[in-house]
Amino acid sequence: MGEQNRMRTALSAGDPAVARAWALRETLPPTLPADEIIALNAPKADLHTRRTYAYRDWKFEVPPGVFLPGETSRMIHDRILDGTIPVSGRSYAAMGAGLGVEAVVAGLRGATEIHAMDVDPESVRAMTEAYERIVGDRPGTLFHPWVSDLFDSVPDGARFDVVTFNPPAVRETVSEDPAVVRNVCVGIGIARRFFDQVVHRDLLADDGEVYFIVSNTSEMRNIVGYAIESGFVPEVIHRQLWDTDNVQTFLFKLRRIAAV
Ligand SMILES: C[S@@+](CC[C@H](N)C(=O)[O-])C[C@H]1O[C@@H](n2cnc3c(N)ncnc32)[C@H](O)[C@@H]1O
Repeated sequence: MGEQNRMRTALSAGDPAVARAWALRETLPPTLPADEIIALNAPKADLHTRRTYAYRDWKFEVPPGVFLPGETSRMIHDRILDGTIPVSGRSYAAMGAGLGVEAVVAGLRGATEIHAMDVDPESVRAMTEAYERIVGDRPGTLFHPWVSDLFDSVPDGARFDVVTFNPPAVRETVSEDPAVVRNVCVGIGIARRFFDQVVHRDLLADDGEVYFIVSNTSEMRNIVGYAIESGFVPEVIHRQLWDTDNVQTFLFKLRRIAAV
């Protein structure tokens, strides 16, 4: 734990919201066994081909190497569309936006500003094309696509009311293909760096919210623990069980301790 986080944890140790946060963490499932995670995340054979994707009435071209959205992605997309994740009239950061469906939906919902980041230039090209085609110029909505390692390219001083992240945090390295690793299994480090940047660069508005998806194929307990140590209080917005396996996927809303 960093010095700043240690101090923050010590200062908030008696805070009931923090006690509840740690109690919530205790209820989360442990990470699945390695062999189960590897079997569940067999790389898709068509990743390096040109694909198409449809969300509601919108069509997307998916270039080689770009992540094809799945059920987990749609947990965020659907909630931006129906307003459960409220972006209208707010500034929004879509981290690891991939194909950019969340940026498109946020544009249609009237976010004031959308910063959409991905480390993969091809993903940023695809999201920019989709945004310009589907949303286009819209009074009161600015779109900023960035090729960016997490928030590195985002200008200093930016602050967001809403941040979403469906991180490639699967614990086991399921392939040697760098595109698979980037899309799926970077591990817990990407989550730690994400929370570090949000805190150290003060990227979240005082009453802002981070929506973060993670399953028990990742180190969910350690990720949530790290977020609490970093000054966030998690709330479970949705828990998804699947018929076919033992995966449990959680959508968390995280706010700063001071905002709870
Ligand atoms: C699981 S996919 C999610 C894509 C999209 N948000 C969705 O839900 O369909 C993870 C995305 O994170 C991107 N990514 C991986 N490492 C990153 C980093 N260090 N900074 C920014 N984006 C990153 C990948 O390129 C990929 O597009």
